[in-house]
Amino acid sequence: MIKTIALAVCLLVILTRGHALQTAMSKVKDLGNGRFEGHLIFHTHGEDIAGWECIVTFSEPVTGFSEWMGDILKHSDNNTVFYLVNKPNTGILQARQTLDITIQGQYSGSGPPTATAELLNMAHDGMAAPTISIDDGTKYNYNEVLMKSIMFYEAQRSGKLPDDNRITWRGDSSLLDQGDNGEDLTGGWYDAGDNIKFGFPMASTTTMLTWGLLRYKDAYQHSGQLDKMYECIRWPLEWFLKCHTGTNELYIQVGDGKSHSIWDRPESITTRPTVFKVDENHPGSDVAGEYAAAMAAGYLAFKDKDSVFADKLLQHAKQINNFAVTYKGKYSESIPEVAAFYGSGNYNDELSWAGAWLYKATNDTTYLTQADTYYVGGASWGQSWGDKAAGAQVLLYEETGMDKYKQDVESTFRNWMPGGNVPYSPKGLAFRNPWGSLRHTSNMAFLALLLADDGVHSSAYRDWAKGQIHYVLGDTGRSFVVGFGVNPPVHPHHRGASCPTMPAPCGMAYLTRKGPNPHVLYGGLVGGPDEHDRYTDDRQNYQINEVACDYNGGFQSAVAGLESLFLRGLLHP
Ligand SMILES: *[C@@H]1O[C@H](CO)[C@@H](O)[C@H](O)[C@H]1NC(C)=O
Ligand SMILES: *[C@@H]1O[C@H](CO)[C@@H](O)[C@H](O)[C@H]1NC(C)=O
Repeated sequence: MIKTIALAVCLLVILTRGHALQTAMSKVKDLGNGRFEGHLIFHTHGEDIAGWECIVTFSEPVTGFSEWMGDILKHSDNNTVFYLVNKPNTGILQARQTLDITIQGQYSGSGPPTATAELLNMAHDGMAAPTISIDDGTKYNYNEVLMKSIMFYEAQRSGKLPDDNRITWRGDSSLLDQGDNGEDLTGGWYDAGDNIKFGFPMASTTTMLTWGLLRYKDAYQHSGQLDKMYECIRWPLEWFLKCHTGTNELYIQVGDGKSHSIWDRPESITTRPTVFKVDENHPGSDVAGEYAAAMAAGYLAFKDKDSVFADKLLQHAKQINNFAVTYKGKYSESIPEVAAFYGSGNYNDELSWAGAWLYKATNDTTYLTQADTYYVGGASWGQSWGDKAAGAQVLLYEETGMDKYKQDVESTFRNWMPGGNVPYSPKGLAFRNPWGSLRHTSNMAFLALLLADDGVHSSAYRDWAKGQIHYVLGDTGRSFVVGFGVNPPVHPHHRGASCPTMPAPCGMAYLTRKGPNPHVLYGGLVGGPDEHDRYTDDRQNYQINEVACDYNGGFQSAVAGLESLFLRGLLHP
């Protein structure tokens, strides 16, 4: 009878706490002088453990409690309940391994106490899988992709998180980020699977996302994601405002490449990072141009929603653009440290792009002249964080209707469509580059959808864009978007998502361990396969299995474009 009750209680505990393992103290020895030793032995059964917390409850108060497998987080005032967390080298256990924690202490009664203990597996974060009830019956649920991609950006947030943060395993981080004179540089997004804020790709991502919102607002509205989408782009836009610390001074990177050798979550960073800025003596027309473009686009998105914020964005966009045009230089030459990551080949494309966005925002022909002066004609390599020539071609065609822009972007797409100079994988991926192959084609899919809506080769461009995006979403038999669709990646190269739930410590072992990431990084698009459609879901392969803000930008906007087509009755089956 007693056994039955104990079992019932035990089951109840397991059910309510999720993945807790239970044990009772065994092999108890009286060490003399009121001291005892005992063992807490846990059998992991079928489950990999990635970090643990252990709660030990004694039958009577214990003082001088010690053990060597973990660190004591806290104990109850009456000294009966002790909370432990694993040490950096004791947190990972494979299925069917045994954890034996030797404990010692001073007992207060007539002999050693009894104890029960439970072990919480920190591979579980208790975050419920997000669901969406809006399903239009399209082959892939674009509404769900939009929701999850926005959540990916929430997982990339740096700084003080808002109360409505949905990513339960994320907390406040990098609160010490500041400029050379103490300016507040908290906020923004971590770039990828690392904990660095790179302004250049962050800004180009913001421009691409905002363009998608401006053109395909109907998709965000229909999927119930419109408010979340405004919050999504507002997060980096607020940061760009903070970065503009002087008329001709702009912070463009927080953190340096040295941190790539550290495998840890951003919440654990305690040191003040190195910061990098461009100014009159260290110009960066490329990065400043992209900030200006993002902020001009941001103005357009917010002008009817929050005009104070929008006007501020436009005012700073104009100043930053003026700085970009007046003090010319490539930022990766002015600041050599950034060259290894997001070096810039050219700044003409950004100056043209910034001019085009400012013209769209203001109708001031000075900016159109700027866009034309720096315009990069002919077939473009493709839209990316470092090359905006194709985007400028599309935008300038939209703004002016002039044939030369249309002809240039048509040549760009002749290269990208089958038969052009961009190779195709056997399963139909337009393979521009082995680094993040999927985002390059996703960026172009977004531009193709825009052009199709502008009346340029509408049917062919739409079919092509849909084919590329469907490749990403599952047409090869697997999804390349974390937490979405069939057989999605479970080992994306991402520090935060691969680390156990706090307060369990992280470290290199979490890069190399076999099991899936403890946290599902919903919506993150991984780099993607090679030109033969080969892909392995390997956390250590950052060429094909990292995620990045930049990867999701054009991708999310393209998915919004497809959903918009569906809503307008134009999506071909
Ligand atoms: C000791 O404190 C814990 C936590 O505050 C409480 O749950 C427990 O009942 C207390 N035990 C005794 C013996 O007072
Ligand atoms: C720019 O001009 C167009 C066409 O005349 C007009 O629709 C638009 O509202 C104007 N935009 C601004 C920002 O003045």
